[in-house]
Amino acid sequence: MSKSAELLTRYEEQVESIWRDMTPKSRELCDSAKRFTPGGAVRSHSTGTHLPYGDRVDGCHVYDVDGNKYIDLVLGMACIMGHNHPAIVAAIQEQIPKGLVTYKPDVKWDLLAEKMNQRVPSIDKVWPAFGGSQAFMWAIRAARAHTRRDKIVKIRGSYHGTYDDAFISPPHGSPGIPKDRLNHLLFVDWNDKEGTEKVIRENKDDIAAVLTEGFHTGGALAPQDGYLSFLREVTEKYGIVLIFDEIVNFWLDHGGTGKLYDVEPDLCCYGKGIGGGIAMGLVAGKDAIMNLFNQEESYRIAAIAAHQGDPLTVSASLACLEIMSEDEISRINANGEYMAEGIRNALKDAGLRGFVSGYGNHQALHLTDQTDVDDPVTYFTNTNTPGLKEAMSLFRRSLINKGVMTLENLMHVRASIPLTKEEIDFSIGAIKETFLEIRPILAETTPHLVV
Ligand SMILES: Cc1ncc(COP(=O)(O)O)c(C=O)c1O
Repeated sequence: MSKSAELLTRYEEQVESIWRDMTPKSRELCDSAKRFTPGGAVRSHSTGTHLPYGDRVDGCHVYDVDGNKYIDLVLGMACIMGHNHPAIVAAIQEQIPKGLVTYKPDVKWDLLAEKMNQRVPSIDKVWPAFGGSQAFMWAIRAARAHTRRDKIVKIRGSYHGTYDDAFISPPHGSPGIPKDRLNHLLFVDWNDKEGTEKVIRENKDDIAAVLTEGFHTGGALAPQDGYLSFLREVTEKYGIVLIFDEIVNFWLDHGGTGKLYDVEPDLCCYGKGIGGGIAMGLVAGKDAIMNLFNQEESYRIAAIAAHQGDPLTVSASLACLEIMSEDEISRINANGEYMAEGIRNALKDAGLRGFVSGYGNHQALHLTDQTDVDDPVTYFTNTNTPGLKEAMSLFRRSLINKGVMTLENLMHVRASIPLTKEEIDFSIGAIKETFLEIRPILAETTPHLVV
């Protein structure tokens, strides 16, 4: 066995032994769940061990069935108002006796649509969905109906949910998605204006929409050198619909990433955090396209679902918009920057090469000897470097042993409303300690990352 493999094996044994002692009930439940749930869990399987079974969540904490308490630095990557925010719980409780689903127009929905219109400069009209994937399915359909074209341009390394065209991205298809869906897709690189312009110009008569995040989740990468304004100009020039994915990063700014970077997309898709903890999605944007959702029109798209816009979900979402005020977003953005600075210092103290990128409440760790990374493909390639990938997987597991949860497969962190400075400091302390644990492994597997 090579020295690096030996170090990785020994570290895994240490991490796993602590975890087994901490979570006997979770392990038992994980094993028995395999009887009736494919794979034994609906959630991520990428941990390499059994998952913690949630007992309850509260604020920025997760409590498992074994009585452990963890600081949640992820919150589904978007529910950064915190778990069970009292105002959201109160709004739901108030609605319950009035009805869960009314199948009738509801003034709460009217108010939600109005609030989104007031909040986001690019929004004329709003339409409810159940989550991000459904919002994207309808947004893409609307763009195609509007332009009467079929092709969709996507940024390599992006995730927009599991609807066929939104999901597939070479070399990754999915069993069950017809291969010819790829004929309708074109791919460009984030922040590559020249390459993007060429692909769009050469296919201009066939392109219905360009899909992008306003701030790229893969590596928490900001648009550079006016990439979003460039996308706006080139799509406008060729009559292409520009669609922003606001599912993870809407809360970077009170008006979303379009407002943050002063760009008005034609459509935006919302999900996850927009429901404040309840499954919710929205498609919103310019009148000319949103009119295709008008079910009275003869030229309209199929975009209806039995429970869309139900008053329970809408109540939660309305409360959520109230909570995520301009002041609160500024405060958590400052906390996110404080956390990023702490992680940078921890990297330095542990003698590791890398950097933290992000904006405000959304930050990501890059372990690399590059000084800058501006596209998600490079970020994912770096993250998957053999040796580093395994070490970082154990790093995240060891962090959980210390009571700090980040994403299972990536080192992204979110600052949330309930997360205090003390909890950030505690998390940074745990991160530094864990950096020191993996340093000897990285010295063998990826020595360029060790100072
Ligand atoms: C950036 C992004 N877009 C779209 C989606 C899909 O949303 P949903 O899981 O609600 O379908 C997700 C979900 O993780 C996401 O992170």
